[in-house]
Amino acid sequence: MTIEAELTVQTDDVRTSVGSSHDAALLEFGCDYNPEQWPREVWAEDMRLMREAGVNLVAINIFGWASIQPKESEFDFEALDAIIELLHQNHIGVNLGTGTSSPPPWLSTKHPEILPVVDDGTTRWPGGRQAWCPSSPVFRRYAFALTEAVAIRYGQHPAVKLWHVSNELGCHNAYCFCDVSAGAFRRWLIARYATLDSLNTAWGTAFWSQRYSDWSEILPPRLTLSTSNPTQQLDFDRFSSDELLSYYIGEAEILRRHSSAPVTTNFMVTAHITSQDYWQWAPHVDIVANDHYLDHRLASPLHELSFAADATRGLALGSPWILMEQSVGAVNWQPRNLAKVPGEMMRNSLTHVARGADGVCFFQWRASIQGSEKFHSAMLPHAGEGSEKFSEVLELGAALQALKEIRGSRVVSQVALVFSWEAWWATDLDSRPSEDVRYIDQVHRVYTALWELGVTVDVVQPGADLSAYALVVVPCLYLVTDRQAQVIEDYASSGGHVVVTFFSGIVDEDDRVRLGGYPGAFRELLGVSSEEFQPLAGDESRALSSGARGHVWTEVTSLRGAETVASYESGSLAGRPAVTRNSFGEGVGWYLGTQLDAEGLTQFLATVVAEAGVHAIAPTRGEDVEVVIRRSDDNDYVFVINHGDAEAELPAQGFELLHSSAVDGALTVPPGEVRVVRTAHSPNYDTVS
Ligand code: GLA
Repeated sequence: MTIEAELTVQTDDVRTSVGSSHDAALLEFGCDYNPEQWPREVWAEDMRLMREAGVNLVAINIFGWASIQPKESEFDFEALDAIIELLHQNHIGVNLGTGTSSPPPWLSTKHPEILPVVDDGTTRWPGGRQAWCPSSPVFRRYAFALTEAVAIRYGQHPAVKLWHVSNELGCHNAYCFCDVSAGAFRRWLIARYATLDSLNTAWGTAFWSQRYSDWSEILPPRLTLSTSNPTQQLDFDRFSSDELLSYYIGEAEILRRHSSAPVTTNFMVTAHITSQDYWQWAPHVDIVANDHYLDHRLASPLHELSFAADATRGLALGSPWILMEQSVGAVNWQPRNLAKVPGEMMRNSLTHVARGADGVCFFQWRASIQGSEKFHSAMLPHAGEGSEKFSEVLELGAALQALKEIRGSRVVSQVALVFSWEAWWATDLDSRPSEDVRYIDQVHRVYTALWELGVTVDVVQPGADLSAYALVVVPCLYLVTDRQAQVIEDYASSGGHVVVTFFSGIVDEDDRVRLGGYPGAFRELLGVSSEEFQPLAGDESRALSSGARGHVWTEVTSLRGAETVASYESGSLAGRPAVTRNSFGEGVGWYLGTQLDAEGLTQFLATVVAEAGVHAIAPTRGEDVEVVIRRSDDNDYVFVINHGDAEAELPAQGFELLHSSAVDGALTVPPGEVRVVRTAHSPNYDTVS
């Protein structure tokens, strides 16, 4: 068995796949593996069990620095050589970490200036992980030297199928407020603004006596007594993301000098990490890879998983991507670490695959017995190979083998959702009209309603070409540039259907309010103008003429060409529009001026979807059944994931891959199970992202 290492080559805005020589194209199945935590006799058992499970891609050396460079003057590659050889002999591909994610104690002792400083000026110390300042030239010097040593030693090794730069860059150290970072921030600002005058204008420093007269006066947004300058905070978010990206590029360039294997790093497209603008990062990785963990702190962890997978596919511009980490069961870092019920890990995994992943990997292979992750689940749990969990891992390995022909196929979608990390940062700044409006919640609400309607969504960057879509949804795009707004408007005027939700189009890239009425940049498209936001208190709500209720937000809206779809029936805005529809050019602009209850939102979107001519893949509403199509040149692959307690039945014709059985007219999916049917191209879906 060999693994197809797939290199994603990027042109301006198209990523295409280029395979290298292989016998069999399998889906990737793998894990993080930390053999340095185990005596060598365990390694042989690991190889036997990895082979039994069909594991073909193993990430090693992720936290290897202290092992391979135990002292500044001493490299010791003996153990890493041995484990790479062992994996190679067992025909298991290596996803080789550069080892730089956590500096060893000798480095932070010798150079305490590499340690990160948080916004109150206090240092964060070693003893955990990732304790380094992204701007530190000293850290970069040492980390790049290690990267070069690893790249020289293993760059041509046939086992190395993929390079794994550092680990989850920015997971803990996204922001550093030290003096070195302040200098780097100033340089970044000079590159962005060139003159102090333009910085002062962009930051609105006429407010509160904040005008700068020298670059040296500018600081990162350290903790202040009052609220801070929002544009300063926004630029610090941008700078911080760019800073770690430049670090990534530094390592990637070194690797590419010594190796032709593809280079990536594991993104964190998830609800609780907001710090990196992955639209900026994605063009720099050869294969998009994401880490995803179910987050039980959210209202709907399952829908968030699907959203994250769709967003990751968006970063890959529709090309296949790799799920680099997920968990077999519980994690260790949430307040209550819920286990997965039998079948849940299979459903989670195949949801990622349905939504474009060509590989499913886990943190980690063998559960640790020490350290803060010793209660984190693993493919091989403390209970060992006789455990039910390990049996589930074997089942997943077999399922991925059965699905290998889907490799390279692309997800079918007719709807785009415009998603922006910049808008996320800006929406969630201090001093907004209501703390109940959180960007990611608003995105998830719209996404969940479409999920429940059985509509697959592509997640796209503001400014992306929308012409292939029947419908575009724009949730809470508070910050939008003129150009990005124009693309959406042009799409509608040439026949597209657009839904915009409240608190969109409000500010430009400097967080400067657009004058003349809300929702600023989308006023023409939507044919409305609002003069005042009237957020609701606590659990207050308003009755609407449609029968739905409005929560969280209302605004004083006047029609400027649009028609009212639903108006307020209670409160001081009674009789005024809450939901509107505007014929715009050849297309339509819908505006949601309040937060509809879940049922009302789904009903509203059902109307929009029908008018836009979007086909739900299956009428799955209320059935907890997820249906997604991946398409190859020859076939459609219909994934049906039944999350519910009841049997699901769908019309289908073809061949079911997981159970190798013909499907003739009807497909039955038992509760909790997954089916994947190879079938002819459906004429209903002509859009493939
Ligand atoms: C992240 C890290 C891993 C591990 C897991 C635990 O994904 O990359 O090293 O800590 O979290 O969930």
